[in-house]
Amino acid sequence: MKSLTQLYDPATFRRQGHSLVDLLADYLKSTPEAVANPHAEPGDMLEGFRTLLKEGTTPDDLFKKVLTDSVHLHSPYYMGHQMNPPAPLVALADLLNGIINGSTAIFEMGRAGAVMERLVIEHTAGLLQLSKGTSGFLTNGGTLANLTALLAARAAKWPSGDAWKDGNGDLRPCVFVNEQAHYCIDRAVRIMGWGEAGVVNIPSDDKFRMRTELLEEAISTARSKGMTPLAIIGSAGTTSTGSFDDLGAIADFAERHGLWFHIDGAHGAPVRLDPEKAHQLNGLERADSMIMDYHKMMMCPGLTTGVFFRNGTDAFRTFHQQADYLLSFDTNEEDWYNMGRRTFECTKNMMSLRVFSLLSCYGSDIFRDYVVRVNTIAANFAADVRANPLFELALDPGCNIVCFRYRPTMPVHSADDLDNLNAMIRAQLVAETNYYLVQTRLRSRIYLRCTFTNPKTEVNHTAGLLQAIQSIGGEITNLRSQFLT
Ligand SMILES: Cc1ncc(COP(=O)(O)O)c(C=O)c1O
Repeated sequence: MKSLTQLYDPATFRRQGHSLVDLLADYLKSTPEAVANPHAEPGDMLEGFRTLLKEGTTPDDLFKKVLTDSVHLHSPYYMGHQMNPPAPLVALADLLNGIINGSTAIFEMGRAGAVMERLVIEHTAGLLQLSKGTSGFLTNGGTLANLTALLAARAAKWPSGDAWKDGNGDLRPCVFVNEQAHYCIDRAVRIMGWGEAGVVNIPSDDKFRMRTELLEEAISTARSKGMTPLAIIGSAGTTSTGSFDDLGAIADFAERHGLWFHIDGAHGAPVRLDPEKAHQLNGLERADSMIMDYHKMMMCPGLTTGVFFRNGTDAFRTFHQQADYLLSFDTNEEDWYNMGRRTFECTKNMMSLRVFSLLSCYGSDIFRDYVVRVNTIAANFAADVRANPLFELALDPGCNIVCFRYRPTMPVHSADDLDNLNAMIRAQLVAETNYYLVQTRLRSRIYLRCTFTNPKTEVNHTAGLLQAIQSIGGEITNLRSQFLT
């Protein structure tokens, strides 16, 4: 039985820590050639880890095993879900956080975290050109952030009484959102007790943007059904395709009807840092609330999410309940340094250090450089797809997400065949090559989807992807036609 004394021994920690940093540095060095997502069966994985518990292990062996059995976001062949490879410096920030167990619920338990959080929010608001007076906080993920912002919308726009105190009563509130929005919006609305009808999905156009010309009719219909519209949500950008709603048109609509205007910028808000693509976010500064994940395009590990309110005091609206042992409510002064007043979480880790370390040690341009780089990889890749007659590009990318499919003209494929073909290509690609990408359904048809998050992905990797798809697709098509003749 290893003793508690050894567990907390600084010399042991130094040895283990140096060894881990060496392991990680070697790992980062090896990732240029790494299979992005090595195949593993859940049952085998479970047995492997169960053995470690049964037989015991050393920190070195345990850490090596976890590394081996992980998805390698730092591989240039990683083009999968919207998770960026975290900057190694930020991983060191997390190590520090792990030792001090930095918390930010109340100032006296997390002083550094509280002030860094305020500065991170202020700096990000400046970078994204949000309006003066913007305030907010960090929270655990876009899902929770959207819920928190919508709770603020409920508090601000509730017609009479207090939903926090009295519940929803007979009111049937609803929000308007692009049908392409992330499912967490629907989830948030249901959590608030507004049910399925609480989300009014607005159809999207051929570029998967909300058809804002349908909004007037949608609000009349909702009202005629006895619903009470409270908010409208703009997507910047959408999960499947990275499309950006017309935020200016949505802001106009919200103003006309006195609705709360929220923007889900979990993925795409950082695109405002890219001079060529920033125009897609015109109107961002007009939102009452906006959220952004720092773990999708801002080089942080998950979960790190900012919630921003145009009118800073709205950040305090959501949770009115008393917690006398933690917070004093005998004053109306907004004690910004007690973050627990504004967040869903009570104990919340000091995630601000992640962003603050990049801002203070590298400067804010590093974020712009990253966003421009990954958007450029996506734009170049999309151009290659468009130029290749064997492929179909779903739409020009607004950011670092590219949806496309293999679509040879001969032999002629039915729509279902084409879906199967692309699904098979994707499965074989992931099983047999270094590449990891995902698939999505657009208008019910299967497309391949790349999210370029690794700034080290080069032209040889993207060109190699098209070649690999072509070769696997050709093989499958040949086999099929042999079988059918
Ligand atoms: C547009 C959008 N909103 C919200 C979320 C949920 O964010 P999180 O995974 O941080 O909870 C996602 C996740 O992919 C997203 O793409």
